[in-house]
Amino acid sequence: MVEGVIAADGRGRIVTANPAARRLLGYRASGPLPDLAELFRVKAAREVVDAALRGEPVQDRQLDMGERVFLVNARPLPTGGAVLVLHDLTELRRLEAVRRDFVANVSHELKTPLTSISGYAETLLGDATDAETTHRFLGTILSNARRMQRLVDDLLDLSRIESGRWQPTLSEVDVAAVARESWAALAARAAAHGVELALDIGSGAERVAADPDALRQVLTNLMENSLRYTPAGGRVICMTKRVEDGVAVGIHDDGLGIPREHLPRIFERFYRADASRSREEGGTGLGLAIVKHLVEAHGGRVSAESERGSGTTVTCVFPDPPA
Ligand SMILES: Nc1ncnc2c1ncn2[C@@H]1O[C@H](COP(=O)(O)OP(=O)(O)O)[C@@H](O)[C@H]1O
Ligand SMILES: [Mg+2]
Repeated sequence: MVEGVIAADGRGRIVTANPAARRLLGYRASGPLPDLAELFRVKAAREVVDAALRGEPVQDRQLDMGERVFLVNARPLPTGGAVLVLHDLTELRRLEAVRRDFVANVSHELKTPLTSISGYAETLLGDATDAETTHRFLGTILSNARRMQRLVDDLLDLSRIESGRWQPTLSEVDVAAVARESWAALAARAAAHGVELALDIGSGAERVAADPDALRQVLTNLMENSLRYTPAGGRVICMTKRVEDGVAVGIHDDGLGIPREHLPRIFERFYRADASRSREEGGTGLGLAIVKHLVEAHGGRVSAESERGSGTTVTCVFPDPPA
């Protein structure tokens, strides 16, 4: 049973508790349990317990017990005492919080360029501006519209992948070829940055079982990051290596690096080590979240290694196809 079930006698001593109840309340699978009053010390929880022991049924009460949130139902027993059923809402609440944060983040990210677009458009409509200023304002409007476009494109990608409807169409893909293609799409930016691509293909790791479009999107996102966060004259290396259960494909750069405290969170949506720098450089904060989802849809995994000042490596492992 997923629900925790506890039966107590008229004085609140636990007569029986199922394994789920023990787990939810943080007790081991066997051994004695304290009385109800001790188990439910939060005030709201104590009220529920008292009511049940007085013989009043309790219907769908939410209890916030600090670490966990429960939905509680209780029924008095004819012999005195009560049965309590605990339904764990903790994960549901966490997901709701994630969704709320996400909506808040999206709104904020859209609002900034939108404010700028309407501000400049109003100025153009209102005041007589000379040709040069007009041109400059239009440029700002366009770059903000593009920023919104990138954000909406990334959001659509993310929702398409996350919906679970998207499945990779696997084939044997030549990593070096896809890496060169991805880099070619960024060639202008790479040339402007004076950053070059090198390939380091391990033996037995020339090909991966992947969706070719997805692999291209993964590598493009990682290379874009490397370009964005690597000073002129730097180097980006696409390396592959055989690992136990598949092929690791990594993009390494010798750029700014990511401070250690940020590393565990960079695959989260909208998480950035330096938000203003990312925005300035045209980032949406969604690139690595998209990479993670794409790779995980292949049954793979992602990881990042970095040291501030000595570059970054983001690695994606694509598992071998089933024999
Ligand atoms: N190669 C890299 N070098 C330094 N920092 C990086 C690199 N790749 C990612 N990051 C950090 O991780 C954050 C999240 O990356 P990502 O999801 O692609 O968003 P962004 O749109 O900002 O590129 C970036 O804002 C940056 O702080
Ligand atoms: Mg990015």
